[in-house]
Amino acid sequence: MIQEIKSHIKEVEAFASEEMQQIEEFRIKYLGKKGILNDFFKVFKEVPNNEKKEFGKTLNQLKDLATNKVNNLKEAIESKQEEKGIYGDLTRPAEPAGIGSRHPISIVKNQIIEIFANIGFNVSEGPEIEDDWHNFTALNLPEHHPARDMQDTFFVQRDPKDILLRTHTSSVQVRYMEENQPPIRTISPGRVFRNEDISARSHCIFHQVEGLYIDKNVSFSDLKQTLLYFTKQLFGKSKIRLRPSYFPFTEPSAEVDIYWGLETETDYRITKGTGWLEIMGCGMVDPNVLKNCKIDPEKYSGFAFGMGIERIAMLLYQIGDIRMFYENDIRFLEQFKSSI
Ligand code: DAH
Repeated sequence: MIQEIKSHIKEVEAFASEEMQQIEEFRIKYLGKKGILNDFFKVFKEVPNNEKKEFGKTLNQLKDLATNKVNNLKEAIESKQEEKGIYGDLTRPAEPAGIGSRHPISIVKNQIIEIFANIGFNVSEGPEIEDDWHNFTALNLPEHHPARDMQDTFFVQRDPKDILLRTHTSSVQVRYMEENQPPIRTISPGRVFRNEDISARSHCIFHQVEGLYIDKNVSFSDLKQTLLYFTKQLFGKSKIRLRPSYFPFTEPSAEVDIYWGLETETDYRITKGTGWLEIMGCGMVDPNVLKNCKIDPEKYSGFAFGMGIERIAMLLYQIGDIRMFYENDIRFLEQFKSSI
């Protein structure tokens, strides 16, 4: 009888099939109620005592083999079917691909670039690590000039000459004028650095866009019209005012306010009840600056302006805390998916 079981073992080992029905028949034949295994277990009592041990062992071997065989063959068929399910149905809708979003600072920067590109301004860039000449001296801010204190500076090196993190993008004006003669129409976006405490309103790293227009007979009214065009395009607001101000690199200088309105409670809050919002500084480029950059102030005149991108993005998107821009919180960034 043991020989008989052994020949079944061989048969089980040799069995292979990819048909569910055949496998099921095989299972019934060996493992079913009236199957071969049960028949052997039934006669176990009659096996002579001295053979019982080996008989039992061989029979259990057959049982394990048959059970594993059936399970393995069934599993193989099921996983094949699963694969087919994944790759087989070509009409199945695609998994939605997660799309990223641009950072709000980049969105606003690109909008500003586009608005000025439409009236002939190109884009120029300069280094973030600057020397004293380009950040201060050439801009009519000689050493010990009190206006240097307006922009608290991070110094990289003080000796033998000052190397610093630029405090404004006005340094790019200087670089551009040193390399190009008028007509000049350029805007310079970039990162700037100031040694200031971080709060909801200000940060030690932020972004600016500088504008520069130099040609023959450029006047203050050209400046005003250019800025009016810009605020109409970006904010959809068509009332601005220029308040006299002071910057060492421009004369006369002005601060630009836009009329935001007083329609909502937020409007009251952000304009402090006046309806007006300051958005940038500007002025006619000081003749000293032109001279410093090898441009003849007798022949040419021009205007310049500078604005903070964060401030504008906060107004456009009603963002209450400047620190949001640098925290990379996905819940904040995801909200800009639908913007350009
Ligand atoms: N550089 C100034 C600042 O960072 C901004 C500015 C004001 C730039 C007037 C200009 C300008 O070009 O004409 O505060």
